[in-house]
Amino acid sequence: MNAIYLDHAATTPIHPEVIDVMTTVMKETFGNPSSVHLFGREARKLLDEARRTAAQSIGAMEKEIIFTSGGTESDNLALFGVAEKYRKNGNHIITTKMEHHAILHTCEQLEKNGYQVTYLDTDESGRISVQDLQQALTDQTILVSIMMVNNETGMIQPIMEIGEVLKNHQAFFHTDAVQAYGILPIDVKDLGVDLLSVSSHKINGPKGVGFLYVNNQVSLKTQQFGGEQERKRRAGTENIPGIVGFQKAIELSLIANEQRRMKYEAYNAQFIDILEKSTISFSINGEEGFRVPTIVNISFPGTNVEQLLMNLDLQGIAASSGSACTAGSVEPSHVLSAMYKENHPCTTNSIRFSFGLANTNENITEAAQKVVSIVERLTSR
Ligand SMILES: Cc1ncc(COP(=O)(O)O)c(C=O)c1O
Repeated sequence: MNAIYLDHAATTPIHPEVIDVMTTVMKETFGNPSSVHLFGREARKLLDEARRTAAQSIGAMEKEIIFTSGGTESDNLALFGVAEKYRKNGNHIITTKMEHHAILHTCEQLEKNGYQVTYLDTDESGRISVQDLQQALTDQTILVSIMMVNNETGMIQPIMEIGEVLKNHQAFFHTDAVQAYGILPIDVKDLGVDLLSVSSHKINGPKGVGFLYVNNQVSLKTQQFGGEQERKRRAGTENIPGIVGFQKAIELSLIANEQRRMKYEAYNAQFIDILEKSTISFSINGEEGFRVPTIVNISFPGTNVEQLLMNLDLQGIAASSGSACTAGSVEPSHVLSAMYKENHPCTTNSIRFSFGLANTNENITEAAQKVVSIVERLTSR
């Protein structure tokens, strides 16, 4: 049985060209980019080039890019860094109930440190309302953090409209673009965002690397102390093989971006079409027309997540509920709970399928057919 990977929102396979460049760097360029000798200068050159690629990919300047260990660190650095630096201007932060835990748990910590956090709600659409944001803003608000694409539902949030609202407000605007980058075009100036988080392993790059974009006008309170790397904003010797691999993944994500997007749209449509032509009942979570093509979150009435995931796994299909699994039981999703409110069946009978490099038309068809037969079996008892 060939296993079929439909969990690209969790992580993606590393692209073979990324592995090639990383292997070469590991063999040939081991210098420390802070060293002034030849070995160090060679490593520095690679680091500078990678920074240029990262900056250009979002319309930023090189000095506005901080390489980090991934999405979680970028989110932490953005939130703690801004909140602690601008504490004198206010203590209010706005985010949403649907953020990744890298944001939500950081906000909980900030609350313990005396900040006030407003968690914007949503409805079944899975999008936040810009009016709600406007009403939540006060003269104490110093930071707004709203994700670009939700990792469980694939819902795209109205980032540009929010950027517009915040133009004349002191609050800085951070967006977690981990699930958007490489799929949606991003220009930080057009979007009006001041800080933006990206992770390499979601775009066929290596794990443990990412970047945080920080607008030139924004200062951060340092969170990690040591050397003077990353313009004193993130101490520690840079992970050169990882960063060069990340650079390659960025370059590959920019090539034929539109064709790839269309391919994933076709996979998504093909998958849904097979479900629609069957007799099973299902519904897609999140408002149509505002979802990225790489993620679809489907509710199967009459089933539950544990049953579904176990049966899918037995059939060699890797999907996810999007939420944490503790002691063999899956917690109701906080994202779907925000959309449908607590105890709604959709919060415990939904599965996230996410498409990418590991897919073909053939394995999408096979996976959809297996999903149909599993759901038929589970609901006919
Ligand atoms: C929206 C979002 N933010 C942050 C992260 C964390 O990124 P990393 O795994 O690189 O720490 C993830 C990973 O799943 C994510 O989906």
